[in-house]
Amino acid sequence: MSEPIKVVVTGAAGQIAYSLLYMIARGEVFGKDQSLILHLLDIPPMVGVLDGVCMELADSALPLLHKVFPTTDPAVAFNDVSAAFLVGAMPRREGMERKDLLSANVKIFKAQGAAINQYAKKDVKVLVVGNPANTNALICSHYAPTIPKENFTAMTRLDQNRAKAQIAAKVGVQITDVLNVIIWGNHSSTQFPDVLNGNVKVNGVEKSIFDAVNNKAYLQNEFVETVQKRGAAVISARKMSSAMSAAKAACDHMHDWWNGTQPGNYVSMGVISDGSYGAPKDIIFSFPVEIVNKKWKIVQGLKLDDFANSKLVITGKELLEEKQEAMSVVQD
Ligand code: NAI
Repeated sequence: MSEPIKVVVTGAAGQIAYSLLYMIARGEVFGKDQSLILHLLDIPPMVGVLDGVCMELADSALPLLHKVFPTTDPAVAFNDVSAAFLVGAMPRREGMERKDLLSANVKIFKAQGAAINQYAKKDVKVLVVGNPANTNALICSHYAPTIPKENFTAMTRLDQNRAKAQIAAKVGVQITDVLNVIIWGNHSSTQFPDVLNGNVKVNGVEKSIFDAVNNKAYLQNEFVETVQKRGAAVISARKMSSAMSAAKAACDHMHDWWNGTQPGNYVSMGVISDGSYGAPKDIIFSFPVEIVNKKWKIVQGLKLDDFANSKLVITGKELLEEKQEAMSVVQD
C-alpha cells in the first residue's frame, strides 16, 4: 500500500458527495492500492450533516481510508491536497435569476481558488462540478496563479456518459461498445454532444456511429436535445437533481486524469482553451482529450461539419458571456 494522498471534496454534506465519497474511498479513482486521507469541506450550517457523513464513512469500514477531516475552513480543507473535487455550490432557488446564481457561485470559487493557491500541492488536480462548472473553474484558476492553468478542469463527463448511453440504447449494444462520443463547449443547454467522430461495435465489427444509427435527423435533433435536457428530465422524475450519475462521472473524470486514457480513446473535459477548433481562447471549454502521465492534450485533426461548427460557435459565445459576467462580479 502506498503512502496516503490527501483528497478534498467540497459540498461534502450534499447529495452528490454522498455517493462520491463512497466511490473515492472504495479506490475507484486512485486505485485499490492507494490509501487516502479525505478532507471534507462544507459550510457551518451543514456541520451536523457532515458529522453524520463521517459516521457513515467510519461505519463502512473502508480499508483504504486512512483518516477523514471534516471542516468548514478552506485553509484546512485544501492543505497539501493532491486532488480536489469542487462540488459545493449554492443551489438555484425559486425566483433566482441565472445571473444571481452565477454571481453567488463565482464568489465561492474565487475564495476557493485563493485557498488552493495558498495551501494545496502545486500539482493539485482540480475538478469543478459545482455549476456553472466551466466558469467556476476559470475563476478558480484565475485566483490560483501559482498553479498551472492545465490543472483546473470542469466536468462534462456526465454529459458524455449520457450521450453514450443514448447511442448504446439506440443501436442496441453495451455501453462499452460506444467509443469517442464528444461533448463540446459549456456544461449547459448549449453544449454540443457530437458523434461525428465516434464509433460503435456491432457484433464485434466497428463502424461509425453515423452509419450504425443511419438517421441524421435523429442525431442532429432528438439525440442532441435529449442529452442537453437530460438533467432537467431527471429533476422532473426524481424531484432532485442527478446525484449518483454525477458522482460516477466525477470519478470517471478524475480516474482518467490520474491513470490516463487508452490509446485512441478520448474523453471530454472542460479545459483551458488554446483556440483549437475555433473555440474562443482562455475560457474553460469542453474538448476531447487524451491523457498520458497525468497530462491531458486536446485531440487534434477531428472532422467537424457545418452543423457542428455552428453549434461550437453558440456554446463558445455563451462561455465568453459568462466569463465577462463573472469577471465583473469578482472585480467589484
Ligand atoms: P447539494 O445542494 O445537495 O449540495 C451542495 C453542498 O455544497 C451543500 O451541502 C452546501 O452546503 C455545500 N456548499 C455550499 N456552499 C459551499 C461552500 N462555499 N463551500 C463548501 N461547501 C458549500 O447539491 P448537489 O446535488 O450535491 O450538487 C452540487 C453542485 O453540482 C450543484 O452546483 C449542481 O448544479 C452541480 N452539478 C453539476 C453537474 C455537472 O455535470 N457538472 C451535474 C450535477 C450537478
